[in-house]
Amino acid sequence: MIDNQQQTIKTWFDKTYLTRGEMYLRPKEAYYIFAELLQIKPDAKFLDVACGLGRMLEIGLDYKAECSGVDISSVAVEKAKLKLPDAVIVEANAEALPFADNMFDFVTCLGSLERMLDKDKVLQDIKRVTTADSRICFMVRNSNSWRWLFTKKLFFAVNKKGHQDAKNYQQWKALFEQQQLEIVSCIPDQWPIMRILQILTFGKFNGYKNKQNSFTPLQYANEFIFILKKN
Ligand SMILES: C[S@@+](CC[C@H](N)C(=O)[O-])C[C@H]1O[C@@H](n2cnc3c(N)ncnc32)[C@H](O)[C@@H]1O
Repeated sequence: MIDNQQQTIKTWFDKTYLTRGEMYLRPKEAYYIFAELLQIKPDAKFLDVACGLGRMLEIGLDYKAECSGVDISSVAVEKAKLKLPDAVIVEANAEALPFADNMFDFVTCLGSLERMLDKDKVLQDIKRVTTADSRICFMVRNSNSWRWLFTKKLFFAVNKKGHQDAKNYQQWKALFEQQQLEIVSCIPDQWPIMRILQILTFGKFNGYKNKQNSFTPLQYANEFIFILKKN
């Protein structure tokens, strides 16, 4: 049973993937950093929660992991399945993952947790499907970033149908810690700066793949990249 607000979010994403397709997401090269931070190993069991069109799953397959993904958008899931026949991709709500307990070594959830209605349930279910030694990566939006404060809040540009939302570092930390998830590291997402460098160098700058040190102070980051483990 899917409630009204959840249906609105799903419909918004279905429409977005139908109309904007791949253009809605960052390019593939922007996703390597998550695999590098997690140190995904060959044959490891890897799950991408809210996998969209499967960008992160493509990286997981490049790293020779056994890849699974879920997303609430049936359009995204159909497109991702066509593109990535070697991954298991299922339409599902992240609040009720269709997988057995203790299955995954690595999990990512990128640009999506803030869109979810019951975040505690999502975190509990990610904990359920991961092993004791798993590493989990979330990229989540910072409510103290200039972009969120000025372009979104000031100009009322927050997308309510897609449930766009944000929290500051302390609020994300509290949410994770309440669910007994320990923060291993947190860095600012650097893609916006990398993108500017690429544009300024007419596409010649290609240092993002291995870039883990930050240009941006954490408090001004557009998004945070958290690496977590169960405690
Ligand atoms: C901004 S997109 C990011 C997609 C993907 N993680 C990426 O980075 O390419 C957010 C995704 O979250 C998915 N989503 C939102 N709420 C969800 C939920 N409750 N369960 C599963 N997926 C959800 C949307 O369908 C959408 O694909």
